[in-house]
Amino acid sequence: DDHDHHDGHDDHELRVSKIRSGTVIDHVRGGQALNVLAILGIDGSDGEEVSVGMNVPSDRFARKDIVKVEGRELSQDEVDVLSLIAPDATINIVRDYDVIEKHRVERPDLVEEVLSCPNTGCITTGDEPVSSRFEVLDDGVRCGYCETIVRDGIPSLIDT
Ligand code: CTP
Ligand code: ZN
Repeated sequence: DDHDHHDGHDDHELRVSKIRSGTVIDHVRGGQALNVLAILGIDGSDGEEVSVGMNVPSDRFARKDIVKVEGRELSQDEVDVLSLIAPDATINIVRDYDVIEKHRVERPDLVEEVLSCPNTGCITTGDEPVSSRFEVLDDGVRCGYCETIVRDGIPSLIDT
């Protein structure tokens, strides 16, 4: 369709077609696209229209992943958590084929009620209604209750 050709992008960009309205998560580190989908709770079962490009050539990095979600604009909470695995990502909000908003993700100081502590003895993983809370470090996250540190990636997500 002609939206693919009107803005002069090179052919690499056209591997994943443009979306009409929704969110493009661009400049995701190569190999992280599936984790982005996991954080957004997207597994295809709800019938969401999603396109994923993995390890596609990029100007800014040698390779990047890209995730395009039709019909959904991400919340700030979702973007905050994405920043942990995709610190250089650009969030593009698309309406009627135009990028109407573009912002870089920012690492939050704190992530609450999203990540699950890997320490089985932690009070947040028991039956007590204590919600999870992680402090964001330069190179990982630390449980606000038991101080377990997870480096290289993120702990698993809370099952919702
Ligand atoms: N995009 C899309 N569907 C649209 C509009 C844009 O999928 N209707 C995608 C583009 O393919 C690109 C990203 O959204 O991957 C950002 O679009 P744009 O701002 O037009 O591209 P650039 O200027 O190259 O972005 P940046 O400077 O952030 O790299
Ligand atoms: Zn803990």
